[in-house]
Amino acid sequence: METIHTIEWMKQITHEARAQDRIVGLVPTMGALHEGHFSLIRAAQRECAPVVVSLFVNPKQFGPSEDLNQYPRTLEADRAALEALGVDYLFAPSPQEMYPPGFHTAVVVEGLSDRLEGRSRPGHFRGVTTVVLKLFGIVQPRFAYFGRKDAQQARLIRQMSADLNLDNRVVVCPIVRAADGLALSSRNVYLKGEDRRASAALSRSLAVVRDEIARGERDTARLLAALRRILTTEPRVALDYAEIVDNETLEPIASLRGTCYVLLAAKVGDTRLIDNALIEPDGANFKVSV
Ligand code: PAF
Repeated sequence: METIHTIEWMKQITHEARAQDRIVGLVPTMGALHEGHFSLIRAAQRECAPVVVSLFVNPKQFGPSEDLNQYPRTLEADRAALEALGVDYLFAPSPQEMYPPGFHTAVVVEGLSDRLEGRSRPGHFRGVTTVVLKLFGIVQPRFAYFGRKDAQQARLIRQMSADLNLDNRVVVCPIVRAADGLALSSRNVYLKGEDRRASAALSRSLAVVRDEIARGERDTARLLAALRRILTTEPRVALDYAEIVDNETLEPIASLRGTCYVLLAAKVGDTRLIDNALIEPDGANFKVSV
């Protein structure tokens, strides 16, 4: 695996790959890699060669009171893991390389980025779409891989790619969970002791929604009430939002129809976590993926 720090060299390499009709895949990450990232990389390797993994802790997507400085940085362990997986290129630019003095541009997916995570973390998605568009411009991948845990992020990136006529396909891969159901996230390292135990309540609440749907419940207010009942049994969990939204508009729906998501965010101790379940029509019923 080659580690690349400059935009110019990264562009050169993927330009040559495309000239040879090779299918370039991109897995954007902020490092502190875990099995969730590895599943994206394996998906990329099934469809693409070369596969580029970018590792950049993007300052623009952190709010002023958020965890930019504490965000886990494990470059050497990440590099070893990527090497073992057989990744072709690690793109690890510095903040100065990505945002040199005089950088002025921001990319905003209007509307979709104001709700849910966007309401709780103003400016977050503006930072995400700005850096992802830069990565798309640098690597110009045919396929780019994102985790479904960040479902709103994936929806925004899909919209940005369509609106800006980018020549890539956004692939969204399933959530990878720990044995107790906690969705894997680089921020899980913040969860210690009782907070780690309590955090499993999030996926339990989604599993209850799945069970209620299997019993025939279609009313989203009743489904969300069942979810809240589970979360209130866990005093360390403070719910920020829980909504059932349409997959395309991200607007709340009153009863299940089409493809939709249960999206939730909560603080467990000082750690903010997000999680979701995907609900898809399945004949006369619905299939729920937690
Ligand atoms: O999901 C992430 O890790 C980040 O938001 C991303 C997509 C790498 C952009 O910085």
